Amino acid sequence: ESRPFASYGSALHIALPQAPRAGQLLTLLIDYEAGEGPGVCWLSPEQTAGKQKPYMYTQGQAVLNRSFFPCFDTPSVKFTYSASVKVPEGFTAVMSATSWEKQKDNTFVFKMSQPIPSYLIALVVGDIVSADVGPRSRVWAEPCLIEAAKKEYDGVIEEFLVVGEKLFGPYVWGRYDILFMPPSFPFGGMENPCLTFVTPCLLAGDRSLVDVIIHEISHSWFGNLVTNATWGEFWLNEGFTMYAQRRISTEVYGLPYTCLEAATGRALLRQHMDATGEDHPLNKLRVVIEPGFCLFLGVNPDDTYNETPYEKGYCFVSYLAHLVGNQSKFDTFLQAYVNRFKFQSITADDTLGFFLEYFPELKEKGVDSIPGFEFDRWLNTPGWPPYLPDLSPGQQLMRPADELAELWAADGLNMEAIEAVDITGWRTYQLVYFLDQVLQKSPLPEGNVKRLSKMYPKISKAQNAELRLRWCQIVLKNNLEAEYSKVKDFLHSQGKQKYTLPLYRAMWGGSEATRALAMETFSATAPQLHVNVQNYVKKILGLGGAE
Ligand code: BES
Ligand code: ZN
Repeated sequence: ESRPFASYGSALHIALPQAPRAGQLLTLLIDYEAGEGPGVCWLSPEQTAGKQKPYMYTQGQAVLNRSFFPCFDTPSVKFTYSASVKVPEGFTAVMSATSWEKQKDNTFVFKMSQPIPSYLIALVVGDIVSADVGPRSRVWAEPCLIEAAKKEYDGVIEEFLVVGEKLFGPYVWGRYDILFMPPSFPFGGMENPCLTFVTPCLLAGDRSLVDVIIHEISHSWFGNLVTNATWGEFWLNEGFTMYAQRRISTEVYGLPYTCLEAATGRALLRQHMDATGEDHPLNKLRVVIEPGFCLFLGVNPDDTYNETPYEKGYCFVSYLAHLVGNQSKFDTFLQAYVNRFKFQSITADDTLGFFLEYFPELKEKGVDSIPGFEFDRWLNTPGWPPYLPDLSPGQQLMRPADELAELWAADGLNMEAIEAVDITGWRTYQLVYFLDQVLQKSPLPEGNVKRLSKMYPKISKAQNAELRLRWCQIVLKNNLEAEYSKVKDFLHSQGKQKYTLPLYRAMWGGSEATRALAMETFSATAPQLHVNVQNYVKKILGLGGAE
């Protein structure tokens, strides 16, 4: 019997002829058709890089896979799967699976031999090819992008995996491959096991956005092995992953660079909390979702995708490390934690209970109830994190950027001082940090941004997506009409949610002219955007989108 469920799809209720005995194996054969729902995305040839053939992909997280195949669509249930996928001639199918094989009739057979939650099953069918970039890694992309894809990551992936294994224990998924998606893919990366999906924006030509790859690799332990049992505790996936990402980054790139990257993350959390208000109910680590969502009332799990689970979650994990007071002890704890809960789905109570059990001397001291830093407060009180990890080792990289931003924000520009600063050797994240400071100080005095634009074509004409996002934000906040076309071009070029929504928010919160720009851009690009992103933009523009 089919019964209504959440805002799409329906619940399948099955009455058994008789109640099964405990442990009894039951086989259920479900014949179904799917493809209309939000989990399965169909792209026309124009929406691909090659523009020749159509493309389809699935995106399961958080609760979209229920429109792809019948399942217990909750992260609390794990299972293995196999699939046989027949595709037309000239197309290749890939899935998040531990093994695959091409059989006759263009049929691909996949098998995932480790138990995973439903949201990690993923499929792509397109004109795609692959190239090796490491002993257990290859990149997949459309033929016209494969050279660039290989160049971006050739020889660098293995080191991240090795460091991850050293820190967190065995990599259990066999291969780690990367698939470059069409530009409308709504995320920077998606940690589909064995096969991470990434935005083509990562093809910056200089590996500068590799932190996304390190992030998705980190999910191999946090999220994919140890999984949040409910979407209300999404921070267990993302907060631990941010922490793991920065541990790997510290080992590979050193502490100063990693602190700089973490500072840009903190700036995103600041922007997010300023935009939503610190006490917004989503600004706590534990969000109330599930029962309400089923009754059309509460929060849709996809709506919890914001900076809080990531960056406040990162702060909480850093706080736990701070309580331990010794990095290598905490690393050992993380490895024990993964080992204790691998292939399971858990709650924050499990995590924190294990932490206190693992460090009995901390439990003794009552570290879970230090006034102002109570574990309960971390989880259940919205707001700015009560503890922030020390990012001062990044000062050597941040200070010059802080000082330069200061100079550009001044009333009469001191061009001599500005020209004395040479930014040609700055890393991308140093420029990102600089631009975040400029944005924070914006609007700058009349004329300054125009001058800045002329002085640094490396920034204002950047092809790097992280730089383009910041530049567009600065253009909008300073009403630099002459460069509005850059905002339009950027939004036409890709559809990542974290780039798209802030720009529409800025346009809608701006002038008559930027509102018109928003409307014009959205009507031209809407069909290319993922339905979720479309709905969020509609909501921003008051067009009656997502609730
Ligand atoms: N799992 C997330 C993407 C996601 C979250 C999809 C929620 C659907 C619902 C992925 O691991 C992620 O966090 N990607 C980030 C990477 C960044 C933090 C380095 C992204 O896409 O920006
Ligand atoms: Zn993530």
